[in-house]
Amino acid sequence: MTHETLSRRPLSRRRVLDLGLCAAASVAAPAIAHATDARTMGPQPGDALVAVGDTGHVALRPRDFRRGAPPVLTWPMDLKTGTVRDGAVANQVLLLRLLGDRDEAHGGALVAFTAVCTHAGCIVSSWKATDRLLLCPCHGSEYDPARNAEVVAGPAPKPLPSLPLEVVDGLVLVAGPFSGRLGGTTGRTD
Ligand code: FES
Repeated sequence: MTHETLSRRPLSRRRVLDLGLCAAASVAAPAIAHATDARTMGPQPGDALVAVGDTGHVALRPRDFRRGAPPVLTWPMDLKTGTVRDGAVANQVLLLRLLGDRDEAHGGALVAFTAVCTHAGCIVSSWKATDRLLLCPCHGSEYDPARNAEVVAGPAPKPLPSLPLEVVDGLVLVAGPFSGRLGGTTGRTD
């Protein structure tokens, strides 16, 4: 059995997205407060997604997701301002390209789910490569991304809410809100 930790996995291709960002040091105090809000709010329609640990904040493209590759743990990013919404742990989103017979019904499309486990709110940060399942390291809940992240093992009571996506100008963008309420149904016990 092979488990792979997803976070801080560097991407094979890197591109520069010209966002026209201002230097952070020149931002005035009120703007800083606004920036904090922008960092903590959840994914917004039109947001791009950047890999957790990618300090270059490169917006992800469909070609970054190979068939058979593990999911990528990401943050949403406001494309207009370049603000990465990494101010709340719960903003982390899992992205992957589906693979296999069951997945063909979905067109082999990209899918995205919250990384917040529905058991006690840990981050689903591992990948069970042998079965292509998302794995929560806290209490072993497993989710099948090819079946809308339904629970196949462990104490999680419900699937991971999904996040609709669209591809615009070659970038993977958020197309709407999560399909359900985020967060665990019990207090964290880890
Ligand atoms: S928090 Fe994920 S299995 Fe308990």
